[in-house]
Amino acid sequence: MTQLEIRNLHVQADDKQILRGVDLLVKPHEIHALMGPNGSGKSTLANAIMGHPSLEVTEGQILFGGEDITAASPDERAQLGLFMAFQYPVAIPGVTIAKYLRTVMNAHRVARGEDEISLKEFRKTVEQAMALCKVPKTWSSRYLNDGFSGGEKKRLETLQLALQRPKTAILDETDSGLDIDALNTIAEGVNEVAREAGTSVLIITHYQRILHLVKPDRVSILFEGRVVQEGGPELVDRLEAEGYGWVEEQVAASA
Ligand SMILES: Nc1ncnc2c1ncn2[C@@H]1O[C@H](COP(=O)(O)OP(=O)(O)O)[C@@H](O)[C@H]1O
Ligand SMILES: [Mg+2]
Repeated sequence: MTQLEIRNLHVQADDKQILRGVDLLVKPHEIHALMGPNGSGKSTLANAIMGHPSLEVTEGQILFGGEDITAASPDERAQLGLFMAFQYPVAIPGVTIAKYLRTVMNAHRVARGEDEISLKEFRKTVEQAMALCKVPKTWSSRYLNDGFSGGEKKRLETLQLALQRPKTAILDETDSGLDIDALNTIAEGVNEVAREAGTSVLIITHYQRILHLVKPDRVSILFEGRVVQEGGPELVDRLEAEGYGWVEEQVAASA
C-alpha cells in the first residue's frame, strides 16, 4: 500500500528555514487537504515532496510506499507514482498537447521497461481522459499553453492526472483564479481519477471553496512551517467560519 509519510521535515531555501519539522501522513486512497495561511510553507512542502532542486532538506524524511525518497531525483519520484500538477507558464512553440502528452507517457513507460504506446492505443487513452476532464478533442492539436487561460492550464493538469493515474497526486492551489464552472469541471476530474484509479490526493489550498467539491477525509493545518492541527472535514468548516486566528492563538498558547 502506497502511503506518503513526512517525518519531522526541515527544509531550507537560500539559507532560510521554511519548514520546521513537518509531520504528515497521506494514506492510500485518502483525500487529504493541507490548509494554511499564505506564507506558511504549503508550496515549499509540495516542492520538497517532489524533490525540487532549490530546496535543501536539513532534517527528517520523506517516505513513499515505505521507501525513503528524501534523496531521490524528481524523475525517480514520478516513476514511483508521485504526481504534482506543475504549472507550465512557458508556452512551447511547435509542441502540440498530443505530442507533449505522448512524450510524457512514453517516458514513464520506457522507465518501467515497457514499450512505447502505439498511436492507436494512445488516441484511445487520451480520448477517454479528455472525456473525463471535459477537454475538447480539438485541444490535441493546440500548442502547449500557447494562449491558454489560467482555467485552461488547470484543466490540462487534470488531463495529465487522468492520463497518468498516479498513486498519489499533489495539487497545489489548483483552485486559484478559477470561475465556478472551471472549478466544478476540475473537481469532477479529480474525484473521478481518485475513484477510478484509487489515487490518493494531497490537495493544498488557502481557501475552502474547492473542498466543498473535492471532499477531504483528513485535513492538516500548516502554520509557520509545521503541521499544528490535524482532523476531519469539520476543520474546513471551522476555518471557513473563523479564519486562521484561533490556530495562531493555539500555537502561541502552547509555545
Ligand atoms: N526559494 C525561496 N527562497 C527564499 N524564501 C522562500 C523561497 N520559497 C519560499 N520562500 C519563503 O518561504 C515562506 C513559505 O512560502 P510558501 O511555501 O510559498 O508558502 P505558501 O505556499 O503556504 O503560501 C514564505 O515566507 C516565502 O517567502
Ligand atoms: Mg503556495
